[in-house]
Amino acid sequence: MRIAIVGAGHVGAVTGACLAEMGHSIVLVDRDERVRERLVRGEAPFFEPGLGAMIRGNLPRLETTADLATAVGNSRMTFLCVGTPSNRRGEADLSAVRAASAAIGEGLSGTSGPRTVVVKSTVPPGTTAEVVRPAVEAGSGRSAADGLSVVMNPEFLREGSAVRDFFLPDRIVIGADDPAGAEALEALYRPFSCPRVRCTTATAEMVKYASNAFLAVRVSCANEIGNLCKSLGIDAHEVLGAVVLDGRIGPRFLGAGLGFGGSCFPKDVRALVALAGSLGCGARLLSAALEVNDRQPAALLDLLEKRVGIAGRRIGVLGLAFKPGTDDVRESRAIPVVQGLLDRGARVVAHDPMAMEQFRQVHPGIEYAASAAEVVSGTDATVIVTEWPEFEGIDYSGRIVVDGRRCRRAEETAAVYEGICW
Ligand code: UGA
Repeated sequence: MRIAIVGAGHVGAVTGACLAEMGHSIVLVDRDERVRERLVRGEAPFFEPGLGAMIRGNLPRLETTADLATAVGNSRMTFLCVGTPSNRRGEADLSAVRAASAAIGEGLSGTSGPRTVVVKSTVPPGTTAEVVRPAVEAGSGRSAADGLSVVMNPEFLREGSAVRDFFLPDRIVIGADDPAGAEALEALYRPFSCPRVRCTTATAEMVKYASNAFLAVRVSCANEIGNLCKSLGIDAHEVLGAVVLDGRIGPRFLGAGLGFGGSCFPKDVRALVALAGSLGCGARLLSAALEVNDRQPAALLDLLEKRVGIAGRRIGVLGLAFKPGTDDVRESRAIPVVQGLLDRGARVVAHDPMAMEQFRQVHPGIEYAASAAEVVSGTDATVIVTEWPEFEGIDYSGRIVVDGRRCRRAEETAAVYEGICW
């Protein structure tokens, strides 16, 4: 099938490359020339394990263009994969979704036969039916009556394992308000053996938010229990290690530490809180999850303060990416940690195996070290912010370490060691 992907960011590029791997003919639409140039050369536009190889291996089936109208006009399906960042009120900013929907509509004008527009972007419930579909219909002059379907198919791809997540999903959610749209998505995903959930577009939109909200709440719950454990002199990881053996609870997303970052959890929980506020029903638990999360960096710095006194000290920061396996620093916990260190009068020396270039754009003024070992040996104390496996290979002996992620080697070898929740 010929498929257009609008937006070659994390979701679009991975979805496009994986659909090409399945044998479809893909045209990736992006207005950023640098992104297109990388794709044309057979490179991933950002770091994602396995993505570059998948793009290179499928280049004959992967076109790249800035010409949205032609790409969409010539495609049986169009995936809408543009960003929905937070606006100042915490709501999902739908301006890119609105603009892309109108442009897709124009691209579809004059076409005939069955066409399906698939919303992949994370959007508030009701957006596909009330924003995207009307814009596509207005631009194209078409509707469900003559074969145009607008459906919602949320993505559950984690950065760092997105390619694997695409091919081995836990479930596929098919949000469609008309049978033809549902059928088109069913046909696309026929090779997958995981459970499929068929629902309305609004339900599908909510499934995505609810999934991220639930996972974020789990992390904050682990952190709240963790903070309590710390005050009681109990090791939170030991406690949670026993808690997760309860089959009703399970082991994932209960890693107590510095909290969650990235381009999804913080923004999606904020969007739900804003939505709940606008509906007058409130979302106290979700607000609290954000509050607990926002508090963790300061808790780490308070521990450091007690151990060394921050003002005038040279402090090392290990890890800048929002999690290991990515060079993405969006909403990374390293941002408030570094800002807090600077506010408290420290000089900061940082290292990350992948994310230093990206972090330099946020904090150009701090020192960047070529290796983690250099950070540890050349500073008065070190804080661990991201759990990169390479940090387990460093000698911390004689050093002071305050750990936000539980680095066993640091715990075993540092002269002074303090964990945020243990
Ligand atoms: C998340 C979801 O896991 C995906 O299913 C979803 O598709 C994606 O958002 C999205 O909405 O696009 P991602 O942000 O890539 O994926 O990363 P996660 O692995 O979920 O981690 C999010 C944050 O939670 C990271 O900062 C991580 O360090 C933190 N975390 C995770 C913890 O602090 N503790 C844990 O136990 C687990």
